Amino acid sequence: MNIKYLSILFIAGVITACTHKNTEDTAIDQLLSRMTLEEKIGQMNQLNYEGNSQELDKRIKAGEIGSLLNVVDPVEGNRLQKIAVEESRLGIPLIIGRDVIHGFKTIFPIPLGQAASFNPQIVEKGARIAATEARSVGIHWTFAPMLDISRDARWGRIAESLGEDPYLASVLGAAMVKGFQTDSLSNPTAIAACVKHFVGYGAGEGGRDYNSTNIPPHLMRNVYLRPFESAIHAGAATVMTSFNDNDGVPSSGNTYLLRNVLRDEWKFDGFVVSDWASITEMIAHGFAQDDKQAAEIASNAGLDMEMVSGAYAKYLPELVRDGKVSDKVIDEAVRHILRIKYRLGLFDHPYADTQAPSASYAEESLATAKEAAIQSAILLKNANHLLPLNKNGKIAVIGPMADAPHEQLGTWVFDSEKERSLTPIKALQTMYPEVKYRYEPALAYSRDSNKSAFSKARAAAQQSDVAVVFLGEESILSGEAHCLANIDLVGVQSDLLREVKSTGKPVVLVIMAGRPLTIEKDLPYADAVLYNFHPGTMGGPAIWDLLFGNANPSGKLPVTFVRHVGQIPLYYNHNNTGRPAPDRAASLNDIPVEAEQTSLGNTSHYLDYGKNPLFPFGYGLSYTTFEYSNLQLSAPSIQEGEPLTIQATVANIGNVDGTEVVQLYVQDVVGSIARPVKELKGFSRVSLKAGEAKVVEFTLTSDDLAFWGRDRVRKAEPGDFNVWVGGDSNAPLKTTFTLVE
Ligand code: NOJ
Repeated sequence: MNIKYLSILFIAGVITACTHKNTEDTAIDQLLSRMTLEEKIGQMNQLNYEGNSQELDKRIKAGEIGSLLNVVDPVEGNRLQKIAVEESRLGIPLIIGRDVIHGFKTIFPIPLGQAASFNPQIVEKGARIAATEARSVGIHWTFAPMLDISRDARWGRIAESLGEDPYLASVLGAAMVKGFQTDSLSNPTAIAACVKHFVGYGAGEGGRDYNSTNIPPHLMRNVYLRPFESAIHAGAATVMTSFNDNDGVPSSGNTYLLRNVLRDEWKFDGFVVSDWASITEMIAHGFAQDDKQAAEIASNAGLDMEMVSGAYAKYLPELVRDGKVSDKVIDEAVRHILRIKYRLGLFDHPYADTQAPSASYAEESLATAKEAAIQSAILLKNANHLLPLNKNGKIAVIGPMADAPHEQLGTWVFDSEKERSLTPIKALQTMYPEVKYRYEPALAYSRDSNKSAFSKARAAAQQSDVAVVFLGEESILSGEAHCLANIDLVGVQSDLLREVKSTGKPVVLVIMAGRPLTIEKDLPYADAVLYNFHPGTMGGPAIWDLLFGNANPSGKLPVTFVRHVGQIPLYYNHNNTGRPAPDRAASLNDIPVEAEQTSLGNTSHYLDYGKNPLFPFGYGLSYTTFEYSNLQLSAPSIQEGEPLTIQATVANIGNVDGTEVVQLYVQDVVGSIARPVKELKGFSRVSLKAGEAKVVEFTLTSDDLAFWGRDRVRKAEPGDFNVWVGGDSNAPLKTTFTLVE
């Protein structure tokens, strides 16, 4: 046993002996006291693994690297870890990160789809399965959940978001953190979560990725920061800064956000990582003149670890010696990083168990992924109760998404094999061998513009009782840097739908996409529409379960569907203008020629597309009908700190069992700053047998009514509140209460 190894054992011993937080700090302090400046800066340096190289081994051995991303081979991960643990002077383990966004091997619906379930339990389970699969091959850390509020469907990363609402994203984001991390990071199947992108990234100008944001302080607090605060309180171990600048300050250099908000206010004690080269990208932003200044700005702002761009490793030693960055700043950053390594148990258990049985694609995981896909699908239309379909009829299965194993997985899938995807065609063949169908893809992929096979699709529809048309987006059309100015169904898919409809056969449109598309002009050509945000490995079985009525749709829209791209941004929880439009505002074709300037009324709407969306936030149909009644409050007024109970009766008045997402919306009528027309404050998935009714109850306290007001303090302001309970954000059932001083 050599001296180095003895010192490793000593450190490991000190660290193992620590059983609670103070001793955790003591152990880290002891380790810190033995580190050179270069070793400390090494911890702040994350590199992308680009294959095995002597140079990489040498740098790990020299203690120059604290983290690697994208090592997925457990044998190679263990080899690299062994160099860090057994050959570097202090034996500090590497933390290995990977984008495990909506599954590792077993792929769940994209996060936007999971948000449509309005179900924190299934979201937590999905993250749990992803963590177990990833940790089994030596991944310690995922760059998820993405908590960027997304109000712009042109932005490709809306796919990765939990939608437009800060409350929904807060609840589901916290559930994901819990699923990845469990109650303790030391759980051998836990991985550290990384909440991103801190902050505002979803509000980039024009829905263009990486773009500037202009989020004023109240909006920042009341909307964009909320899901992050909730995830930090749920124990998220790490945070990633965003690419955007807000009001001129890039997030990777934003001292106010990283120190005042994250550390001082929220007491975050994990570490902050940059996004990919976002520190040196501050040069392109015009915020730093070179790599050295970028490193100085970011480290002083409180950014602990640099992802891939190497400016910390190169310039921090000199910046410290020149007094531009203090030892204290470095020590703090390293302490944050060591803390998470320590909590993950990496000092004690640095290696992946390569002998353990595979954790991937377990039966139970696939069943959960299927259930998640079922709960994530949203029924947007069902004329004449076309759905559920009769299995005895003959079905024409048409369209480029019916058998697209890669595409249905969605964005950010690096580790799953498309051969494991159960597409609708594969699922039909294996699960329903008795069903008679004819399959005609008609288009090779979603952007294909070759219409030569349309005639076959037409013939298939003519020979069948019903046509099920699978359209949508390939996975590459959403995700990072995959923004679109036009969000109609891509290519000639709308023409295909019209062609099929022209046969006179009933048409079911099944969409699989990474964003809400503008489908208003397609709706007349589909009798029923089932919308799936890319549903993952088990998309096919989930869709047929829904189409055949083995399951009843229960998903609700986590984002507003616009009628036309020009309406963006359009979201349910907007402020009112001084001139809200009436329900029937003037429309383009009704305007008389040479109408007088003021004759149309001066209100806030588009002459061509009005003020309303195609489908509102929270919307989604079922095969049954839910009726709401009897909205009651426990009191007409409450005082600060007092609970208010809100009850409503929900009845299933149809013939089949179903699950409804009951939603609670509140409006603060007058505030020290203008308040949104309504805000989601609670939701509950309620299962009801045919004919059954239940009383659903929500409890609010004044804290739930609090917001950052004119004095920049978070509190509830006394006054009147409107309350709605219902099945979407247009719920009509309404009452009021007062918060008294
Ligand atoms: C850039 C993306 O913005 C971020 O979300 C991701 O985690 C990193 N790349 C690492 O792949």
